[in-house]
Amino acid sequence: MKNYISEYKKKTKTSAKIFTRSLKLHVNGVSHNIRFYEPYPFVVKSSSGKNLVDVDNNKYTDYWMGHWSLILGHGPKNVKESLKKQIEKSWMYGTVNEQTIKLSELISKAVPVAEKIRYVTSGTEATMYAVRLARSVTGRKIIAKIDGGWHGYTSDLLKSVNWPFTESESSGVVNEEKIVSVPYNDLEGSLRILKKHAKDLAGIIIEPVLGGGGCIPATPEYLKGIQEFVHKNKSLFILDEIVTGFRFRFGCLYPTMKLDPDIVTLGKIVGGGMAIGVMCGKKEIMGYADTTGKKKSERSYVGGGTFSANPASMVSGYATLSHLKSKKSVYSKINSLGEFARKEIENVFDGKVTVTGKGSLFMTHFLKDGITEITNSAQAAKCDGIKLAKYHFKMISHDGIFFLPGKLGAISDAHSKDDIKRMVLASENF
Ligand SMILES: Cc1ncc(COP(=O)(O)O)c(C=O)c1O
Repeated sequence: MKNYISEYKKKTKTSAKIFTRSLKLHVNGVSHNIRFYEPYPFVVKSSSGKNLVDVDNNKYTDYWMGHWSLILGHGPKNVKESLKKQIEKSWMYGTVNEQTIKLSELISKAVPVAEKIRYVTSGTEATMYAVRLARSVTGRKIIAKIDGGWHGYTSDLLKSVNWPFTESESSGVVNEEKIVSVPYNDLEGSLRILKKHAKDLAGIIIEPVLGGGGCIPATPEYLKGIQEFVHKNKSLFILDEIVTGFRFRFGCLYPTMKLDPDIVTLGKIVGGGMAIGVMCGKKEIMGYADTTGKKKSERSYVGGGTFSANPASMVSGYATLSHLKSKKSVYSKINSLGEFARKEIENVFDGKVTVTGKGSLFMTHFLKDGITEITNSAQAAKCDGIKLAKYHFKMISHDGIFFLPGKLGAISDAHSKDDIKRMVLASENF
């Protein structure tokens, strides 16, 4: 490991200098906690296609892809052209604009539940609103989430993110007793907990593929079982498709499992690399956000944000989704590259790893302590995270390949089979 650190330091001298300036002004030198890694993160000067270029001119094939938001790669031509045209006109109106309507028309056709839509500028805001809306609609207070579920930094959902899921994730978070957490892919165990809170259960929020919690798909039976319970209980079924929306197909993942969510949250890909969050859902449920002629006690206040539905994000999202709609072969290409990556990495490590994921998302888990399969976040957390971070750091320092150490990888349309082969070879050397 030592020589990889010195190799890294030797080639990232300008990054080191600039990051020292960053440390003076920013807590830990960053604004998103997970962007820091030892000894210091390299500083990016530009990006294009599959590559990040740092200030020392090192080029990295990127598998972090802007927190998995860049399904077409960095700066795809059509998105860039659309953005340029919009920037010429202006990039912030703070008023109604047609760009928003065009994006919504695309989303609502592809996502049947999106009968009504509200935009924000992050996934965190979208899930915050989803929780508030569920409480307003049901008049109940408790929200259930998944052990290991990550829905952004909203105080409500900042609970049971990290194994063993028992300790508070942060000081300063109040009313944690209003959030209950259930074990992923364990229907019996989940229902046991949900039943205890049934009377005051406003809803449950679930990622159909646990993202930050280990890149683990939910089984359709699990999601169906949970949905059946919450609907019988007159609670809301909220699917957080911020990672999965438009990632595997043109639309969300839920229709492939014949699910019937009440609210869906989107983000990342639908903003085409610009700031976005989306909350959408059934008309009668989203109707609670209607502020016209309703008393405060009768409505849910979910519309705010200076930059909500700003024309730059709307145009970038529209250009991205239009491209995906007209070229669906992007999905068959990246889904099969993902399958290839998972199979080849598992072959390389010869039984010592499991590579989880779906389609173009993949995450390597170094098995230990008797863990043989990864179906939930607890199992993922018991794997060797230190080895995973070392594996990723070795690729950063030695192979010109970037994974945010310890995190899952995302394949974009800018990647090719040769890129995956090169990554597999780098895994072999590790
Ligand atoms: C499933 C899920 N929900 C919500 C969020 C929060 O989105 P944002 O980082 O845009 O606030 C994330 C971010 O990674 C996520 O993975």
